[in-house]
Amino acid sequence: MNEKIAALQQSFEAELAQVSDMAELESLRVGYLGKKGKMTELLKGMGNLSVEERKTIGAETNELKNQITVALAEKLEAMKAAELQKEIDELPEFDVSMPANMARGSYHPITLVQRQCEQVFRTMGFHLEDYAEIVTDYECFESLNIPKFHPARDMQDTYYLDNGQLLKTQTSAAQNAIYRKYRDDLVNNGVPIKAVFPGRCFRNEATDACHENTFFQMEGMMVDKNISISNLIYFMKTMLSEVFRKDIKVRLRPGFFPFVEPGFELDISCLICGGEGCPSCKHSGWLELCPCGMIHPEVLKAGGIDPEEYTGFAFGLGLTRLAMMQYGIKDIRDLNSGNLTRLSQFTDDE
Ligand code: DAH
Repeated sequence: MNEKIAALQQSFEAELAQVSDMAELESLRVGYLGKKGKMTELLKGMGNLSVEERKTIGAETNELKNQITVALAEKLEAMKAAELQKEIDELPEFDVSMPANMARGSYHPITLVQRQCEQVFRTMGFHLEDYAEIVTDYECFESLNIPKFHPARDMQDTYYLDNGQLLKTQTSAAQNAIYRKYRDDLVNNGVPIKAVFPGRCFRNEATDACHENTFFQMEGMMVDKNISISNLIYFMKTMLSEVFRKDIKVRLRPGFFPFVEPGFELDISCLICGGEGCPSCKHSGWLELCPCGMIHPEVLKAGGIDPEEYTGFAFGLGLTRLAMMQYGIKDIRDLNSGNLTRLSQFTDDE
């Protein structure tokens, strides 16, 4: 072998043995195979050789070039493998004989309350509806008798999408679609519309212990001939007595919502003192729980239902509020905290 080539081979091997990281390996590669590398220089020098010499030396040079290329690739692979092994070695010890962490999960308080309510309404013949979280302005406001620039919108600022849709501020946003879905059965077959719709609602709120930008409601409606406020009171009282597993007294106070007429705030007798008066109910004996009312004729019309012939009630039960009452949760923000230790303390025994 040509002396120069042999010397280069030796020096490469010696240098390769010294390489301790990938950066050094790369500079070694450049030093030999790069544009100004030693191998390239060697090849350039071949112009002065005779044809015969060029043949043998050329072959030897190429051979060495291949050897160097392979050796560099192998070294790179070995270094990567060593790095991986190092990472594996540094992983914490894993003892397969340790007992598994068998802590059982728990349902979210809102899920529990929602399921209870759904169950009660189902047994009373209500359909359970599912609906979108992103809705149109028509669904959330216009169809509910809240035209553009109506002051009732001020209380319900929300998150708007570029296409004009919005995150619904109230489960009432599903009312119009539900009337349309069941309208034919009502008109043609005389089947009353009875539906509940639980869902997540969003508002642009400054959060504190009582306010959240994301919360849950359950909307409910019943439409038929001759539906009156007594039907509303009966269904609400039955449902709440089932959920709280005791006889609940209810009372109605006037309340304004553009989509009901008359509109009410439904209060229940205080769960703590039973109506005697205590700090929880501010000594009134009553807790405000659920806005409701008789569906406004314009809202029925928007749903394709003739208000001369049919009447109905609607309510918007605050599931978040109900869960807080049921489980004694004082700060609404706990519910969205994702803090499992905190949340499971309310529902561990379920
Ligand atoms: N959607 C109303 C709100 O979030 C609550 C409500 C009031 C719903 C009266 C109703 C109703 O169905 O009849 O403020």
